[in-house]
Amino acid sequence: MNRQISYITTAHLILAAIATGYFIFSTISTTKDRGTEDFCGTQSSVTAPVSENAAYGKTLFLRKCASCHNIARDMIGPRLSSIMENPQWSDRQQLYKWIRNPEKFMQTNAYTRELRNKYGTMMLSFPDITDDEIDAIVDYVSSR
Ligand code: HEC
Repeated sequence: MNRQISYITTAHLILAAIATGYFIFSTISTTKDRGTEDFCGTQSSVTAPVSENAAYGKTLFLRKCASCHNIARDMIGPRLSSIMENPQWSDRQQLYKWIRNPEKFMQTNAYTRELRNKYGTMMLSFPDITDDEIDAIVDYVSSR
């Protein structure tokens, strides 16, 4: 009789162990699946269209701006990672004008005059750069 009970108990324990194992396994695998799905979803819906422009912006940034600017730290010119949080540049038109002709812009803008005093170098002008090109550079530096 005692022996029978112990067999039954053992059998139950084994079944419980299998069930627990299966439960843990299925939880892990569904979590993994969901994780991948989320990652792909976010990629395509949010970052993909921007990152194409940002990739173009990267090329322009490296060619035209990187000799004086770094995204994350100040160099010859200030770091560019947070320019979009700067109220001075919240009007994109201001930024276009500044980049095309900093010297002229400075004459009527105290903020950039102060920057020049701080950095001691005159920012280069880019008279031929287009609005789209500047937008792409902004996408790139703000995505980092
Ligand atoms: C010859 C060096 C040089 C180059 C090249 C250059 N900059 Fe600058 N930039 C500066 C300096 C120096 C300043 C700070 C103002 C000053 O002293 O003229 C500045 C300031 C800025 C600012 C204002 C930053 C702030 O904190 O408000 C922006 C935006 C900017 N540059 C964007 C660019 C972009 C975009 C390019 C490339 C298309 C570029 N710069 C190329 C030197 C440069």
